[in-house]
Amino acid sequence: MSVESTPVGSTLNENFESLMREDRVFPPPAAFAARARIGSEAEYERMYKRSIEAPEEFWAEAAAELEWFTPWTKVLEGSGPHAKWFTGGKLNLSHNCVDRHAKAARKDKVALLWEGEPGEVRRLTFAELHVEVQKFANVLKSLGVKKGDRVAVYMGMSPELAIALLACARIGAVHSVIFGGFAAHAISDRVNDSDCQVIVTQDLSYRRGSEVKLKKIVDEALEKCPGVRKVIVYQRAPSATVAMKEGRDFWWHEAMAAAAADCSAEPMDAEDPLYILYTSGTTGKPKGLVHTTGGYSVQTYLTSKYIFDLQDEDVYWCTADIGWVTGHSYVVYGPLQNGATVMMYEGAPNWPENDRFWKIVDDHKVTVFYTAPTAIRAFIKWGNDWVHKHSLASLRLLGTVGEPINPEAWMWYHREIGKERCPIVDTWWQTETGAILIAPIPGAVATKPGSATRPFFGVVPEIVTKEGDPVPAGQGGLLVIKKPWPSLARTIWGDAERYEQAYFSEIPGIYFTGDGARRDADGYYWLMGRVDDVINVSGHRLGTMEIESALVAHSKVAEAAVVGRPCEMKGQAIAAFVTLEEGYEPSEELKQELRQWVAKEIGGLARPDDMRFTQMLPKTRSGKIMRRLLRELATTGEVKGDTTTLEDFGVLAKLKENEE
Ligand code: WTA
Repeated sequence: MSVESTPVGSTLNENFESLMREDRVFPPPAAFAARARIGSEAEYERMYKRSIEAPEEFWAEAAAELEWFTPWTKVLEGSGPHAKWFTGGKLNLSHNCVDRHAKAARKDKVALLWEGEPGEVRRLTFAELHVEVQKFANVLKSLGVKKGDRVAVYMGMSPELAIALLACARIGAVHSVIFGGFAAHAISDRVNDSDCQVIVTQDLSYRRGSEVKLKKIVDEALEKCPGVRKVIVYQRAPSATVAMKEGRDFWWHEAMAAAAADCSAEPMDAEDPLYILYTSGTTGKPKGLVHTTGGYSVQTYLTSKYIFDLQDEDVYWCTADIGWVTGHSYVVYGPLQNGATVMMYEGAPNWPENDRFWKIVDDHKVTVFYTAPTAIRAFIKWGNDWVHKHSLASLRLLGTVGEPINPEAWMWYHREIGKERCPIVDTWWQTETGAILIAPIPGAVATKPGSATRPFFGVVPEIVTKEGDPVPAGQGGLLVIKKPWPSLARTIWGDAERYEQAYFSEIPGIYFTGDGARRDADGYYWLMGRVDDVINVSGHRLGTMEIESALVAHSKVAEAAVVGRPCEMKGQAIAAFVTLEEGYEPSEELKQELRQWVAKEIGGLARPDDMRFTQMLPKTRSGKIMRRLLRELATTGEVKGDTTTLEDFGVLAKLKENEE
């Protein structure tokens, strides 16, 4: 990973200057703090200090709040990429999410509260969820799925998606969820990389009033997946509309009707794999991060408990899709371990109108609401009238995740949604980290708009130079995490070397986040965006190389370079520079064809916003594409930076000439 190519804080975060000037501070509202799980700064300080000075005791106490079939013998063993947690312990995450509540006082409490985009509502109590999860676990078993087998899941936001995950976890099958917005090609790559033999999907899902035909996309993907034996299809539409392949495809409801209602939870070693989740890195190939059972369970449990201050009466709604890590940790596993009522919504925020989210909040009396800055920017654009049609009186806590939130969007969220009474938890973390690492404890830590504030218990961030030396307060640098924490992904599926290389080699032995940040004099962290070739489009993480590879795979494209440029709505937008093969001429049609091609290869989320043709790409003498220049060009339309390492000075002039 080349950190050098991007000077930290230079072009990545246009907010940086305004963040440096941000000095508003919002102490926890007294009414909130009075009934919060942690209600004073002193208590946060005390717990944080203990978590650092005696991490094993701290994490052992947290772990003891869950049920273990066999206690661990050692809390933490090893360090850096080799840290292991709760070794010798046996537990099951599905058991801690479901059985633990279903057999006790919460059995009739609603676990999943779901609303479909067309408007249907379903409620599943913990007892009902328990039955569904056991049955589906038996369905998986009946299809030959065993502990350690990988199961791909490509579904929309229906309760069955959560059930599928919990059923896999129950029998020790490793789920690999593929976001429902990915295209066939992206599915087959992921399915083949981790050798999944079974895939769970659904006929279709509803989004912005139209049908997303998931099963059809799976059929296309499976043409390139010889290893897939069985496909389970949940029927979402009122009547069956999809082709079923005899012997391979099974209807969810038919298989469930035949399944026994009990299936005990498999005792899993704390370090047994729980799931694989692919995310973008700096090369063209997505990384299958492997999360394990014990540490992940404990930290998603504890962060949900304290950062979302979960209490028994809460109706908790994280708007993320389960296809992303936020959905894994904070729709399914974290809140359910806490016995929370989890709201799930299938569709778009602006269907049938721009106030759908606020209508859901009022209809279901949502109390904790967790969303992404990109959604907040859309709400702002749609106008306050949509918000003012609803009371939002049930809300008591708000959260954000996925990208830096600009202070003015934070203020809008605070004023218009939180009515100045709800704290905002800006939560910083990554697919790799498994759980939130930096965020305010809402009853204890004062917030500052645009800052993720202070580290969670047990987390020791540091801002360093690229040599690994700490930088003084106020100065930008690379964000690293010094000590091990339980929920870190343990490896990259099939590529342990890449794992160490990507995360523990930049600063040897220390976890490198790929983010730039600054710490202010109060010890608050301000995230400044990625310092590598990962871009963040509407909170979705994409590798520029992934998009470049897709473009180059097109027969008319010779070379491609992709960069992110700041975008008011999406955070970053995708700008692609393309050189064509001999014999092809730039045209508006070809531009559209290439944009469409990328959407077809990866998914709509990767469709370039800007597409420019050029005769050459600017390169250094050693042949590296000078992304910095392209970024500058895509952002400002001109290049002012140092160009002395350009191989061909004429290139820059040509790039400019070819601009529209
Ligand atoms: C960015 C999503 C600023 C960051 C959970 C990180 C954030 C990447 C924040 C991980 C935040 C996430 N403030 N930036 N609160 N949360 N990011 O793997 O650049 O999809 O490295 O995980 O999103 O994205 P991922």
